[in-house]
Amino acid sequence: MDAVLKHIKNNHLLYIEELKELLRIPSISTLEENKGDMQRCAEYVAAKLSTAGLDRVDIFQTTGHPIVYGEWLGAPGKPTILVYGHYDVQPVDPIDLWESPPFEPTIKDGKIYARGATDDKGQMYMHIKSVEALLKETGKLPVNVKFLIEGEEEIGSPSLEPFIRANAHLLKCDVVLISDTSLYSPGVPTLTYGLRGLSYLEVELIGPNRDLHSGTFGGAVANPINALARIIAQLHDKNGKVAIPGFYDDVLNLTSLERKNFARLKFSEKNYAKELGVAELQGEKGFSTLERTWARPTLDCNGIFGGWTGQGAKTVIPSKATAKISMRLVPNQDPKKIAKYFEKQIRQLTPKSVKIKVTSLHGAYPAITPLGHPATKAATRAMEKAFGKKIVYMREGGSIPIVATFDKLLKAPSVLMGLGLNTENLHSPNEHFNLTHFGLGIQSSALFLEEMGK
Ligand code: BES
Ligand code: MN
Ligand code: MN
Repeated sequence: MDAVLKHIKNNHLLYIEELKELLRIPSISTLEENKGDMQRCAEYVAAKLSTAGLDRVDIFQTTGHPIVYGEWLGAPGKPTILVYGHYDVQPVDPIDLWESPPFEPTIKDGKIYARGATDDKGQMYMHIKSVEALLKETGKLPVNVKFLIEGEEEIGSPSLEPFIRANAHLLKCDVVLISDTSLYSPGVPTLTYGLRGLSYLEVELIGPNRDLHSGTFGGAVANPINALARIIAQLHDKNGKVAIPGFYDDVLNLTSLERKNFARLKFSEKNYAKELGVAELQGEKGFSTLERTWARPTLDCNGIFGGWTGQGAKTVIPSKATAKISMRLVPNQDPKKIAKYFEKQIRQLTPKSVKIKVTSLHGAYPAITPLGHPATKAATRAMEKAFGKKIVYMREGGSIPIVATFDKLLKAPSVLMGLGLNTENLHSPNEHFNLTHFGLGIQSSALFLEEMGK
């Protein structure tokens, strides 16, 4: 193993050059104009899997973006690890705020700046390099390995679930390994054991059949924006709880051990508020900030529009008002059930004076990986060895929609070995990835495969 770790260290600069190539491809999954880049990016990933020494590499076309697959199954009797990651990235807007162009990777202070650097190209690429190093130095892998790299994570993975259903045998595995989350703080080895789910809907209120002069008609008809604002305001109670009947029914409560462990983590509410530029933090009463963001369900309005939003003045009572509202869910809430409760409550709160339309945008099931699982223990040993520090276990407020599907369809738990940082601007301008963590991630990945082979 020492030779493998040495190989990884010796090739650090070469790996960075390859990662740059990957980051130059603008693989934005949500934009039609980048369709060709998606195919090109899938081909680049496939080529790198082949060079790494995998036996079978395939690109599967879907009705959306291609799925890249690769395998090395030369360790009969040993566990099979499925490495999952995504090669698609978020759009770059607002482009003006980028200090270097999003698809011209730039290194500054030991960090690589580019869209997709931390989410998820840089993190996904670590596993390709660890497998390559193991195969080059030892001629074999300690376990069987399969790679499943998709191009639709940022749009809710619509093609992947049907692909897994249709290819359950091909993807059969004991454990899924994913690097698409964050370290608790720089240099601290971390495993994430819980992800929140998501229920995301759009609510449209329709008032008069056209925009009206607000002087002539003001006072006579309901204003859909006023009505929508009142509805949204009623979705939380005075204790910061979500005021939707049934919303908390299936919530898995934090154990006293979890609460103790979270409380033990170094966390300053004051610095957190300062860094975000807010005067004080708020949320569900009776819970800490880490508990609120990692393990409690929440509701947020993500966008609201209607009436005159252009420059200058136009005094109208608008015909329509729309809000996009998302709820982050925790185990064992069901996004479909929550969407129904939400719609019922919204309709209840809507006055007769306006019509209402509710549309579901997308959803994700929450997920949890048992801390006692042998794979979690192997990952703990691997990361502690690579970092030379004690592991931290955390949960995460974000979502990776496919994790619950792996659990359900492949009966495989996911080890969330994230090497990103929440301060690395994922989905924002100036996204970057710490290159020290990149190197440590490649080592952690190789050590994990070794531990799983024992
Ligand atoms: N890698 C993120 C999930 C994540 C976010 C992990 C923050 C750790 C910290 C993933 O790519 C993502 O952005 N997920 C979306 C899912 C949605 C598009 C269905 C999310 O959480 O909003
Ligand atoms: Mn991601
Ligand atoms: Mn993302």
